[in-house]
Amino acid sequence: MEEEIKLEIIKGGPLKVHGSVTLIDGDGNETKTKKTAFLCRCGQSQNEPYCDGTHKECGFEK
Ligand code: FES
Repeated sequence: MEEEIKLEIIKGGPLKVHGSVTLIDGDGNETKTKKTAFLCRCGQSQNEPYCDGTHKECGFEK
């Protein structure tokens, strides 16, 4: 039985992924995430696609 994946939008912050997923980047490279991942929504992370906390400094509010 497959684990249900949940996506949580954190206001003013990242997209929290509950459950392991496979991320495929623009070059087709695949990375398997851990049980929880935080994906950048603000576009300012130096570690994209992951959140590095920069959203706190750039005024991201969505
Ligand atoms: S959402 Fe956290 S660095 Fe972009």
